[in-house]
Amino acid sequence: MADKDSRAGHRYTDPALLTWLDDLHAGFDPALRRAFEAPDREAMPAIQVGRSEGRLLGLMARLVGARKMVEVGTLAGFSALNLARALPADGHLWTVEFEAKHAAVARANLAAAGLDERVTVVLGDALTVLPTLEPQGPFDLVFVDADKERYDVYGRWAAANLRPGGLLLCDNAYFFGKLLDRSSPGAAAVRRLHEESRAHFDTVCVPTPDGLLLGIKR
Ligand SMILES: C[S@@+](CC[C@H](N)C(=O)[O-])C[C@H]1O[C@@H](n2cnc3c(N)ncnc32)[C@H](O)[C@@H]1O
Repeated sequence: MADKDSRAGHRYTDPALLTWLDDLHAGFDPALRRAFEAPDREAMPAIQVGRSEGRLLGLMARLVGARKMVEVGTLAGFSALNLARALPADGHLWTVEFEAKHAAVARANLAAAGLDERVTVVLGDALTVLPTLEPQGPFDLVFVDADKERYDVYGRWAAANLRPGGLLLCDNAYFFGKLLDRSSPGAAAVRRLHEESRAHFDTVCVPTPDGLLLGIKR
């Protein structure tokens, strides 16, 4: 019989175990390594998704047959590279980034991977850029990984611009473990994303290190 409090025993965080699995299932080729290591090399914040989460993004994009995708928050292009590799030849990813340096580093990494024609790195604040992308929609997948204070806004945009059956993915869905902090505006926005998403999506919060909200648009 399952332990009623089984959650307590299910946080296997042994680094050797996780590295063994990352190496096995989410190993690097030169382009992935270049993009993953770019934040450290370029004195940028190393806040990209983990290796296995990157791999998961690409596999999920393949599962829904994504041809048109939007990413909010590019950084150095590691998650974008994983997503773009899942695209068919006529597919496209628009990824939005408001730091000019991050956008330039990401463009170089995506070009080195031979993906510059399949990915557009759009420089600007997602709040103003996203409406300009709407004529390209509806989209098959939206990945949100930027300013948490606007996660509710990005979730509403995704609900309006994904096709039925399209996939919403949002990283940091635990808000760095502080999702239930009632004094944090960021936590409140991420909670609103969780609550509101259920009106438009079949949802689950996948227990990745900081939570990944997954929703399939109804
Ligand atoms: C967590 S990082 C993205 C990591 C990336 N998705 C990856 O896993 O490789 C968040 C990025 O979003 C950018 N960002 C934050 N707020 C933004 C906004 N309002 N519009 C566009 N980009 C934003 C930051 O400059 C940063 O590069």
